[in-house]
Amino acid sequence: MSTRHGYRSTRHSYDTVAARYAAEIDDELQAKPWDRALLGAFAEQTPGGPILDVGCGPGHVSAYLAGWGLDVVGLDLSTGMGVVARQATSLPFVTADMTALPVRSGAIAGLVCLYAVIHLDPAARATAYAEFARVLQPGGLAIIAFHVEDDGTRMGGHKTVTTWWEHEVELTFHYLDPAAETVALTAAGFELVGRFDRAPHPGTEHQSHRSYLLARRSVPSGNDQGAGDTTRRSITTISS
Ligand SMILES: C[S@@+](CC[C@H](N)C(=O)[O-])C[C@H]1O[C@@H](n2cnc3c(N)ncnc32)[C@H](O)[C@@H]1O
Repeated sequence: MSTRHGYRSTRHSYDTVAARYAAEIDDELQAKPWDRALLGAFAEQTPGGPILDVGCGPGHVSAYLAGWGLDVVGLDLSTGMGVVARQATSLPFVTADMTALPVRSGAIAGLVCLYAVIHLDPAARATAYAEFARVLQPGGLAIIAFHVEDDGTRMGGHKTVTTWWEHEVELTFHYLDPAAETVALTAAGFELVGRFDRAPHPGTEHQSHRSYLLARRSVPSGNDQGAGDTTRRSITTISS
């Protein structure tokens, strides 16, 4: 995904399937009790302040967290996803790339990123994790979720999909090793506080084994500002 072509094809593919994706998975959380439990625990432990839902898709997780009283901003590479998300909720949504977040350093109280880093290669994931660390307040909590394996793809492998719900797409899905992602998050400035691995819920969602890493932004000592750069950027929201 780190190539410009990969970036463009991912964005175009999600623009193409955005409405269908929303129709298919908008109420999916109702059938995913483990996800609701993790998101609820995240909400309970996150102090006041903005929460970033990175790779938010149609915004169903953003809406769920907002239901817990959190101040959520959704962010996605796909403009089409942002449009769908804004139709479904009154929350703010930003179109941006997670490897260059348009957010001030330390401005975010908590961050979730569910099934979005799966489209990034290892170098791009390292850049994204550094960005997550940069924008989070020290001590801020993050949840990173991803596919680990399914019947067709083993952990560490990837597959490229060219048709999705009868739409032509070009999407690469990376199946990630939780231990390797933990190392990458630690290198970016996080401490692992928990990990939850689960089997797929039968009859709903893609039938993959999944992992959820719960990571806390390390509290820097002295003048250390962590692995991310300290570039100041402003949040912009989709205007229509
Ligand atoms: C499989 S969907 C997951 C959506 C939602 N988080 C969920 O759990 O249903 C992956 C999302 O990540 C977004 N995405 C992919 N690469 C991205 C990037 N570099 N920056 C921001 N979002 C990205 C896609 O546009 C898509 O909406």
